[in-house]
Amino acid sequence: MKPTQKPANPNFSSGPCSKRPGYDVSNLDLSTLGRSHRAAIGKAALGRACADTAQALGLPEGYRVGVVPASDTGAVEMALWSMLGPRPVDIFYWESFGKGWQTDIVKQLKLEQVNEYSADYGALPDLAQADPSHDIVFTWNGTTSGVKVPHGDWISDDREGLTICDATSAVFAMDIPWKKLDVVTFSWQKVLGGEGAHGMLILSPRAVERLESYTPPWPLPKIFRMTKGGKLNEGIFRGETINTPSMLCVADYLDALEWVNAIGGVAAAIEKSRENLAVIEAFVAANDWIDFLATEPATRSNTSICLSLDLDPDQVKQVVKLLDAEGVAHDIGAYRDAPAGLRIWGGATVERSDLEALMPWIEWAYRQVTG
Ligand SMILES: Cc1ncc(COP(=O)(O)O)c(C=O)c1O
Repeated sequence: MKPTQKPANPNFSSGPCSKRPGYDVSNLDLSTLGRSHRAAIGKAALGRACADTAQALGLPEGYRVGVVPASDTGAVEMALWSMLGPRPVDIFYWESFGKGWQTDIVKQLKLEQVNEYSADYGALPDLAQADPSHDIVFTWNGTTSGVKVPHGDWISDDREGLTICDATSAVFAMDIPWKKLDVVTFSWQKVLGGEGAHGMLILSPRAVERLESYTPPWPLPKIFRMTKGGKLNEGIFRGETINTPSMLCVADYLDALEWVNAIGGVAAAIEKSRENLAVIEAFVAANDWIDFLATEPATRSNTSICLSLDLDPDQVKQVVKLLDAEGVAHDIGAYRDAPAGLRIWGGATVERSDLEALMPWIEWAYRQVTG
């Protein structure tokens, strides 16, 4: 039987992610638009984006937060190109984006002392291989496989190397052990349902020390440069961006931060996301034709929830198309490099009631396709 109730919001994309409940573009504070981002008003808004992020996330003393160009990719690239080189690198990857960072390190930077630890879609590599005297590069949540790192216990508190973590689909949705991480990146377009364009770069004091003590042998484009005369350009971490940002995107991000505080802060956002995952867990438990791509329950992502169906890839495409055409779920096909399946976003901007409404539709679409 075709379900009768549709999700009130059919946006389940894994990025850009659904806008927050109650989002209304006309409620944004647009007083910065049409003004210089270096005027007091612009700088204050950008400074707030940095300071309010640090406060909302409860970052340790001494950690810096900066707004940088080119979304999460820009933030990760800045870190890799500015900091890697002086130590061997351990890179852990298990899906498309992590593989992209491996390519940068091996093929672009051409670093020679690189240890690669990888796993297929659905699994995690052996994180215990991490050597605390090496620099470690990894993704907290593999957005395209729905496999997350379950905790940071494998990272040494006494490490000599840096940990560089792409956490774009984890920040504001998963517990992050900040003291274990030296560089953390994310984008506004993910968990908070903000816009692309700018990335957030979080640096520990040890990351700053690396920047001030090491100069890479390769040239660095201006948009990657974080030091001036061997000292950290602190302005970047107070809202003095390297180049011109979109103040509209900044206004949108400040609105998202206010919302996350209003719902109870990061802890509430994490809980909401876990409850969203629980809706899908119950559905998967009740249906033997659908399963998580993540093989270990502890590694199941609560944001980019990846599911495999006992269908061939063309049938999966038909399921995705049917759900889209019915207006019940947009953009839920697996990422292009991942195995065929569904990928449903479960971050806090998605309402549990919408996921509950979606589940019977998935069953309906499956029955349509298998006829
Ligand atoms: C783990 C991961 N890294 C990097 C990116 C790229 O992000 P952006 O397009 O915001 O630069 C994504 C986007 O989905 C991602 O999921």
